[in-house]
Amino acid sequence: MSEILAIYPGSFDPITNGHLDLIERGRQLFDQLIVAVLTNLEKEPLFTVAERVDMLREASKSIPNVSVDTFSGLLVDYARQKQAKALLRGIRAFTDYEYELQMALTNRKLAPDLETVFLMPALAYTYVSSRLVREIFQLGGSVSGMVPPMVEERLQQKLFHDKAKKAGVRS
Ligand code: PNS
Repeated sequence: MSEILAIYPGSFDPITNGHLDLIERGRQLFDQLIVAVLTNLEKEPLFTVAERVDMLREASKSIPNVSVDTFSGLLVDYARQKQAKALLRGIRAFTDYEYELQMALTNRKLAPDLETVFLMPALAYTYVSSRLVREIFQLGGSVSGMVPPMVEERLQQKLFHDKAKKAGVRS
């Protein structure tokens, strides 16, 4: 029987404990799971693609059959190139559904053989999102428990560099 490869695409800016939970669940369903970071984000990211990939690799290094990659352009083209059978996405709350449904059906229109598989993260992570992590961090709050400790450290480093940069500009 051929191996089933799935792609877990996203911005991952930054990776949260919810993403990690989904990676762990997804890798038990599929033979290979590629976590794929979109490189041409419309929005201004907090972390560069290289930083996001680095954090994803660090966070998933002890998880078997998971690899990290980047992609640009259409997701279905990347999936075809990788010979993936499925796309993995997480659904946390009802509010995610509309966006995810639209994306899944668009991808199905473009690539009818590619299935989108939705998984729910552990209940404890249903409120966690990268967007809120970025917002809390930028407003000086604690994101402890929402992201891996290594990501918390990277956020602190970013804060330190930003402050140093601002101080440098003023002096
Ligand atoms: O984590 P995100 O930002 O919700 O992930 C969105 C992502 C990267 C999965 C989506 O924007 C995407 O697949 N972009 C690639 C462009 C594409 O294929 N668009 C058409 C299908 S929606």
